Amino acid sequence: MNKKSENISGWKRFMKSMTKAHELGTEEDIMLDHDYDGIKELDNVLPPWWLYGFYITIAMSVFYYTQVFYNSEKYSQAKEYAAEVAKGKAEVEAYKAENPDLFNTDNIVAFTDEENLAKGKELFTTKTCFACHLNDLGGSIGPNLTDNAWILGGDVKSLFNTITNGGRPGKGMIAWESTITREERIQISSYIISMQGTTPANPKAAEGDIIFPEVVEE
Ligand code: HEC
Repeated sequence: MNKKSENISGWKRFMKSMTKAHELGTEEDIMLDHDYDGIKELDNVLPPWWLYGFYITIAMSVFYYTQVFYNSEKYSQAKEYAAEVAKGKAEVEAYKAENPDLFNTDNIVAFTDEENLAKGKELFTTKTCFACHLNDLGGSIGPNLTDNAWILGGDVKSLFNTITNGGRPGKGMIAWESTITREERIQISSYIISMQGTTPANPKAAEGDIIFPEVVEE
């Protein structure tokens, strides 16, 4: 036998041991005795290559679970989440520290020019404010924004704060900080101020104890 044929027979032997395929022509030996409408079944063994793979996954699972068990102090989804949130918050803080003007409300001044007020009016519609406050700001789910009674304050800084951070919890006025830019929030606030004293079609009754602007007795 030369080297090559030896190798082939070695390979064949290996394949045979890995498949344990039953010899053709001797199916009778492993035929099960049931018969479903002429369909018969052979009792083949599970091919060893498949079986070994299955054993390996079982062994891996034991290894995996011990790793999870021993590392649960170090690692868990909850901890990973908390770490990510802490990292995100730190990044926000760093950003705020780097851009103090963006987050400072002291320097906010209401716009009075047509262009910015028109932009504010447009944003009031596009950002869906009108859905709760109505297009003429008369109020429905949210309060009337044309009267001088305010729940959270009617000066430009208070308005900016309300739009930025939302109303009282659970009232339905969400924080818009992440969806409306700082500039746009000032434009909307300015637009609301410009609508002071207008008469909406169906004004909602005044809500809130903060009176702004004060009514000056003549
Ligand atoms: C889902 C309904 C809803 C939407 C949309 C909504 N609001 Fe409001 N808004 C409310 C409610 C409810 C309140 C009252 C909050 C409270 O009582 O704390 C409120 C309060 C306010 C206030 C304070 C009023 C006060 O009396 O102090 C302002 C200003 C305001 N909204 C502006 C806006 C702007 C601008 C938008 C769009 C960017 C907007 N709202 C979108 C429901 C809404």
